[in-house]
Amino acid sequence: MLFPDYRPRRMRQNAAFRRLIRETTLGVDDLILPLFAIGGKDVKNPIDAMPGHYQLSIDHLVKTAEQAFKLGIPAVILFGIPDKKDALGTQAYAKNGIVQRAVKELKNKLPDLLVITDVCLCEYTDHGHCGFVEGKTVDNDASLDLIAKTALSHAQAGADMVAPSDMMDGRVAEIRGILDGNDFSRVPIMSYAAKYCSAYYGPFRDAAQSAPQFGDRQTYQMDPANAREAIREAAMDVEEGADIIMVKPALAYLDIICRIRDEVDLPVAAYNVSGEFSMIKAAAKLGWIDGQKTMMESLIAIKRAGADMILTYFAMEAAQLINA
Ligand code: PBG
Ligand code: ZN
Repeated sequence: MLFPDYRPRRMRQNAAFRRLIRETTLGVDDLILPLFAIGGKDVKNPIDAMPGHYQLSIDHLVKTAEQAFKLGIPAVILFGIPDKKDALGTQAYAKNGIVQRAVKELKNKLPDLLVITDVCLCEYTDHGHCGFVEGKTVDNDASLDLIAKTALSHAQAGADMVAPSDMMDGRVAEIRGILDGNDFSRVPIMSYAAKYCSAYYGPFRDAAQSAPQFGDRQTYQMDPANAREAIREAAMDVEEGADIIMVKPALAYLDIICRIRDEVDLPVAAYNVSGEFSMIKAAAKLGWIDGQKTMMESLIAIKRAGADMILTYFAMEAAQLINA
């Protein structure tokens, strides 16, 4: 169909037509809010590069989660900032660790809000790497047991779903095994399957105090230059028993979301990460872009690429706009 027979503008002439032909929608059902839990009482430490986000003691965490729940957000994902770190990240799987306590309290106060836990060691290890470190290398197989133990401890605390973000090979199978072996076959795994070694995690690492103390994460997180490898990573996690496949970051990796959506029939999640949030906030603060519009455009683009759900620091603001 060619002009003048076909005039695409006909269907754009007013809001009602535009609504009718809209291909993608963003709803509060699609949003997952990340939260940072820290020890103590009445603690609400602002995170510099992430306006509106805080390291929250459990009392405040519950209040924020309650606001999210009231806005209709179905789930939060928890990250923990422990009191002490050590070589083995023991606070990651401690019965009374910060995430374990936060999960218990959240499920107690807000039983219908889904509580997802990020499963990783980097916030809990003194070296800041996501696994077991031997000399200067991160030992894959020696990490699996610690990561699986962490996931189990989250399930025991009441987590509705665990989300391993370490990028060790074989960890999904290891976690599935330990959960099933301990009567947690009902707890799903949201796998950070295609997680890239990204500079967009900068603000998060300040927030979670989880920057590596030597080297970087290139030996386990993916090379931003690679796409086919992401398909292999996703396929592997499907085989190992993942329930949701995640791509991270989101905006610079829309092609990966799109390809994984085509290749995999599991639900796909996208993590709109800290740096993506901070860039929009910073430019908006300078008056260089319209923050709200850029936020909504970014989120709809992630959905359009094929994500079924989005982990995003914009969850509250977007939900408020959607509900307005
Ligand atoms: C822990 C983890 C990270 C993020 C989520 N889980 C940081 C990292 O891998 O260094 C990043 C989230 C964000 O930037 O918003 N492995
Ligand atoms: Zn990590």
